[in-house]
Amino acid sequence: MSELILAIDQGTTSSRAILFDRQGGIRGMAQQEFPQIFPADGWVEHNPEDLIQSTRAVCHGALDAAGVDAARIAAVGITNQRETTLVWDRLTGKPIYNAIVWQDRRTAEYCRRLKQQGHEAMVRRKTGLLLDPYFSATKLRWILRNQPDASQAAAAGGLCFGTVDTWLLWHLSKGRRHATDATNASRTLLYDIHQGAWDDELLSLFEIPRGILPEVCDSAADFGTCDFLGREIPIFAIAGDQQAATIGQACFKPGMVKSTYGTGCFMVLNTGDKVVESQHRLLGTVAYQLDGRRTYALEGSIFVAGAAIQWLRDALKVIDTAAASEAPASALSDNHGVYFVPAFTGLGAPYWNPDARGAVLGLTRDAGADHLVRAALEAVCYQTRDLTDAMAGDGIHARELRVDGGMVANSWMCQFLADTLDMTVKRPHVRETTALGVAFLCGLKLGWYQSLDEIAALWGEERAFEAGMAGEQRQRNYAGWRKAVARVNQIMD
Ligand code: G3P
Repeated sequence: MSELILAIDQGTTSSRAILFDRQGGIRGMAQQEFPQIFPADGWVEHNPEDLIQSTRAVCHGALDAAGVDAARIAAVGITNQRETTLVWDRLTGKPIYNAIVWQDRRTAEYCRRLKQQGHEAMVRRKTGLLLDPYFSATKLRWILRNQPDASQAAAAGGLCFGTVDTWLLWHLSKGRRHATDATNASRTLLYDIHQGAWDDELLSLFEIPRGILPEVCDSAADFGTCDFLGREIPIFAIAGDQQAATIGQACFKPGMVKSTYGTGCFMVLNTGDKVVESQHRLLGTVAYQLDGRRTYALEGSIFVAGAAIQWLRDALKVIDTAAASEAPASALSDNHGVYFVPAFTGLGAPYWNPDARGAVLGLTRDAGADHLVRAALEAVCYQTRDLTDAMAGDGIHARELRVDGGMVANSWMCQFLADTLDMTVKRPHVRETTALGVAFLCGLKLGWYQSLDEIAALWGEERAFEAGMAGEQRQRNYAGWRKAVARVNQIMD
């Protein structure tokens, strides 16, 4: 009997595959990291083949881990790092350049020019996004202009553009499908989120020929089949990872909000059938599209969260594992005035400064590695506070935050987060909410669940962290962070 769903979660630093049962229980899992390529200051790339190879490997790994064969899989779902941009040859399937990763800042100057020319208001109105290198369109334009003959080949219909979901789908379906879903399309800067369509004015602004674009589908849809597991299995769902996590956290009602702590931190608030136009530089985006109906979200995107811990582990070697960050942070009674602004690839919401770079401030002679570790964890919490403050500025006061992602295993961080936000922070039983979200979407398509309410009933909290810090202390800590960020922004001016 086919009673499992295989959820592929192709992330920024690793590919994962997880087998879920109908109740959202995990039955097997595999994960594989792959190399990050940093060709120049602010440039970040992935080898497109690594994305495919690691995905295939973890799919087999998850089956092995569960001790089951492919006959038990009812459907496959794909969730992915968003915005990362690929271009490949329509005939051969070969990429014409590396994947340019969402963190990459190479198009900052071009974005600045477009802003100076006054294009941002139109772009914001249609896409909900901003003119920032983060999104796909300027990366796609860069590839077309910088690879030999690419512009002509694109104009002649010989090339395909895709975000990572589309790239994987193309290869898993053996080139039979060139498609994406509305959540991924909504991150490209080319998609009108009100109309639910690629937009000619945007295509002409970024000089992108329409023929290079994938078909846009619902998040739960028939995306064809894949046969690499020895049989044809339907691919029934695609969603960008942050949107998938929103579904996995069952944030289905307007006002419900989740924050995922992976490479970066992404807070997504369900706004129902309305696109909220933020006055505080948050993003309007598609949360999910089901049966042709879009549900929208307000998003705050922070580029570095877990990546700061990874940097402490791999570059500075002050901790052996990410999990080892909890003990030194909790052993200190306070931060000793040390602040770490991890702006390795610029600052995202609400600052949007692509030129900012990281800094550690407030070091004294008696500060040590532990302070650095604590400052990195605190920074994640302060950046989250930047987002809840921005949402509050837009008139939205969330009362509780559902959290997930690798970092929330750190209970000290969850508690510090609740204290910093002055809000209840809830950690679910299943922390793999990104993969779970796309599994839920597959389940909808399979008819396992009749409604989102049925899915919401499967969500449960493992632990709630209540705010306990004195108000004065909370304000003092956060004021120190704001000062540190202001100095980073200034240094770069
Ligand atoms: O927008 C970028 C985001 O989708 C990346 O997510 O989990 O790989 O940090 P993650």
